[in-house]
Amino acid sequence: MDVVKEKQAAAEAAALLVEDGMRLGLGTGSTVAFLLPALARRHLDIRCVATSVRTEEAARDLGIAVGPFSDVDRLDLAIDGADQVAPDGWLVKGGGAAHTREKLVAITAERFVVIADSTKLVDRLHGPIPLELLEFGLASTLRRLGTVTRRAVPLSPDGGVIADYTGPVGDPATLAALLEGTPGVVGHGLFPPGMVSTVLVGRGREVETLRFAVH
Ligand code: A5P
Repeated sequence: MDVVKEKQAAAEAAALLVEDGMRLGLGTGSTVAFLLPALARRHLDIRCVATSVRTEEAARDLGIAVGPFSDVDRLDLAIDGADQVAPDGWLVKGGGAAHTREKLVAITAERFVVIADSTKLVDRLHGPIPLELLEFGLASTLRRLGTVTRRAVPLSPDGGVIADYTGPVGDPATLAALLEGTPGVVGHGLFPPGMVSTVLVGRGREVETLRFAVH
């Protein structure tokens, strides 16, 4: 299995979903890195927002128009990678620490399309679950969360501390609710199936389409 080719195949299939005039959300990661040139080759008239500085710079270098997200209230489509995809559509994202921005862009889009190689398919979600935490009160937040490790990476572009929850995942909805109810947690990498329209999975030379809820 060539994982790199699978990422590329999924990303190129997703690029074909983009139409002239769309407002598009661009994700972050090594799979999205294949999406950007595939999009640029299509020379579409699109307006994009990016989930990371990395993606923004790479897109601009390829001639893709990227603007600020602060004054965009709707997107037609967002395309992003994932670290884990469960059979029921739950995702884990944030291996690249961009999960807070990624979730905000995904929820803004009418359709959220995930691109993944086949190694991302799992039977059950497992840790680590990426977190973004407020630096203010950090020691208190870490103590209350318990099984969390701070990641040795810079603060997020929004000033958040990147960490990973390493305890048991169990029911993802229960864990997501617990994290969301914990003061000091800015964001977490559990994405519910209701947020995910489609997952395009590269499998050998093929791209398999998994469909989930449309929001
Ligand atoms: C970035 O924070 C992540 O959510 C990525 O989208 C995820 O880690 C997938 O990355 P790759 O495409 O590099 O596997």
